[in-house]
Amino acid sequence: MRPVYGMLLFVLFGLVTAVIIGFRPGLSKPLPEDHEQTGLRDRIVIKFSHVVAENTPKGLAAEHFASLVKQKTNDRVEIQVFPNGMLHSENTEAEALRRGEIQMIAPSFSNMSNIDPAWFVMDLPFAFPDQDAVDEALNGRVGAALFRTVEKQNMHGLAFWSNGFKQMGSNRHPLIEPEDFRNQTFRILPSKVLASQFSALGAATISTPFNEVYRHLQQGIVDGQENTISNIYTKRLYLVQKYMTISNHGYLGYAVIVNKPFWERMPEELRLAVQEAMAETTAWMRQETKAMHEHQLEQIRASGAIEIHELTGEQRRRWEEAMRPVYEQYRSVIGGGLVEEIERLRERRAS
Ligand code: LMR
Repeated sequence: MRPVYGMLLFVLFGLVTAVIIGFRPGLSKPLPEDHEQTGLRDRIVIKFSHVVAENTPKGLAAEHFASLVKQKTNDRVEIQVFPNGMLHSENTEAEALRRGEIQMIAPSFSNMSNIDPAWFVMDLPFAFPDQDAVDEALNGRVGAALFRTVEKQNMHGLAFWSNGFKQMGSNRHPLIEPEDFRNQTFRILPSKVLASQFSALGAATISTPFNEVYRHLQQGIVDGQENTISNIYTKRLYLVQKYMTISNHGYLGYAVIVNKPFWERMPEELRLAVQEAMAETTAWMRQETKAMHEHQLEQIRASGAIEIHELTGEQRRRWEEAMRPVYEQYRSVIGGGLVEEIERLRERRAS
């Protein structure tokens, strides 16, 4: 054999050996498993986008949910929370969810009315006397009907989250009687029922994204707005309003929604763990929201920046009467007997 062939054979033998046993010494022993690397590769990431501050009921619930999911799935599912509309505003988030760019959102019920008019039912003025009445509707026929509407849109509803009741604010004068609303312009969430609620009082409305409300009040583009104490407090809306009425006239809740194909592709045991974390978060949030509103209302009062009026029973009754025409306007638009169901639940509670 010529020396050159011998040399080639030697190199070839070396290469084959290296491929079989590896290039590094000691590799005939199995490699220790790198759990962190395996975890990272297998980890399911859920991007959760919302528009409010981190220290609101929704912001805190999103973080609470993320840590429960991490714990219950052994870090196999990671919830990445994007607050303050940093990824999407309420106008773009549902489309982004459908496209699968993000996997979870929690829009207000008013925003959900863009998807299906059945959601208007939750915007009806004075529909619910308290949170228990809301829970009864959402845990029953009303909630089931609402979640059926999202299934048709390639989305899946996981829970209803609560931000409690809305209060009225204005820069012009105190809002005590229905006539006080006349000729004022109010910022509303994008919902025709809310527009009709104000037009029943002789007021105009502009629908603007949440993160523009402060500027619109400050620049006088609108005279007033309605929102929950936590949204008014965390966005400092009380600093650009002169008068607030504790009216509890409308409810602000959220539908927590996931992209349906994504949800169905998730391994069942992880889906169950996420559902469990969601149920625990929803219950936790109910308590948190109540405590937070009490504390933040105190802070607003203590600031002395805004004059606060609490509606008396009589005044409340007059507001209800003035806003009642909205029910007939939307009964058939909402459909499915949902308005009747709300009325039935309300009568039963009152009796
Ligand atoms: C709004 O007024 O737009 C807010 O209700 C938004 C939110 O998600 O709470």
